[in-house]
Amino acid sequence: KDEQLEAVGEECKNLILSLPKEYGFGNQYYYFFQGFWTTPSQIQSIISFQNDFQAKDSDVVIASMPKSGTTWLKALTFAIINRHHFSSLENHPLLKTNPHELIPFFEFHIYVDTVCQFPKVDLLNMIEPRLFGTHIPFTSLAKSIKESNCKIIYICRNPFDTFVSYWNFMNKIELNQSLEDDFERYCKGICHVGPFWDHMLGYLKESIARPNKILFLQYEDLKEDINFHVKRIAEFLGCPFTQEEESNGVIENIINLCSFETLKELDANKSGGLGWIIEKKYYFRKAEIGDWINYLSPSMVEKLSKIIEEKLSGSGISF
Ligand code: A3P
Repeated sequence: KDEQLEAVGEECKNLILSLPKEYGFGNQYYYFFQGFWTTPSQIQSIISFQNDFQAKDSDVVIASMPKSGTTWLKALTFAIINRHHFSSLENHPLLKTNPHELIPFFEFHIYVDTVCQFPKVDLLNMIEPRLFGTHIPFTSLAKSIKESNCKIIYICRNPFDTFVSYWNFMNKIELNQSLEDDFERYCKGICHVGPFWDHMLGYLKESIARPNKILFLQYEDLKEDINFHVKRIAEFLGCPFTQEEESNGVIENIINLCSFETLKELDANKSGGLGWIIEKKYYFRKAEIGDWINYLSPSMVEKLSKIIEEKLSGSGISF
């Protein structure tokens, strides 16, 4: 039985019933909507978002596939943009608040009909620049985001690590998931907002066509040289660091504040939930590159390598 489908409105339900359907991650049904896989409650949220959201030129959207480093990028973006308001670290919001509460997701926190623990977001009175998150593919973003001058920062991650991170995350929400079954689905593209290759290529294509609008990042590159990327993000957002800031250690402070080690140990990220089934601590696991080696068999590695080669070779994305 598809409980999520039962909970959506009649009109949306009829639309969903006409879509291809597969069983997937987290013991729920996924439907192929607007070229990607997602669940009924998400389809309802995405339709509301597409119909209602009015972007402002000053908005910034953090986009990603789940488990690609979204939390990290949200923290960095918040800290970079707001650095003049919180020059002393003592009272920094990131020390008291989970990054997802500071930067809400359109589809999980703003355009939701279901009862949600997340505080109601008042779009009209949000402090500007407004910061948002989303996992929605580029082609399905609200028209005003694509047409306005608002900026998008996209982050992707090695699919091996993303899969393992996602599987662990879903396994915390719904115990006893089969790694093998979920892996097969991931390879077919059946996971939230999958296929991963279309998601990445959609944002990549736009970032090439409009480099001032979309900044395309890779988790592994941030890990390799975070200093360079913090500066790059600040420049992209039109608020580059001054010489004085650089020599006063402002960049290092932001890097330390947003590091996995700092965020994971904060009370704000250790206890409590986001929505009703997700605990904040689930967002902080290992933050390593290559942990997939502990989960995937040689034949799984071969299979996913072939898919990556087939779908992404020549695109400029390499892992
Ligand atoms: P692992 O499960 O491999 O540890 P998302 O934020 O998109 O949900 O991605 C979660 C992944 O990013 C998890 O990966 C998590 O540990 C890692 N992560 C969370 N905060 C991070 C940070 N500040 N720096 C680097 N990685 C971080």
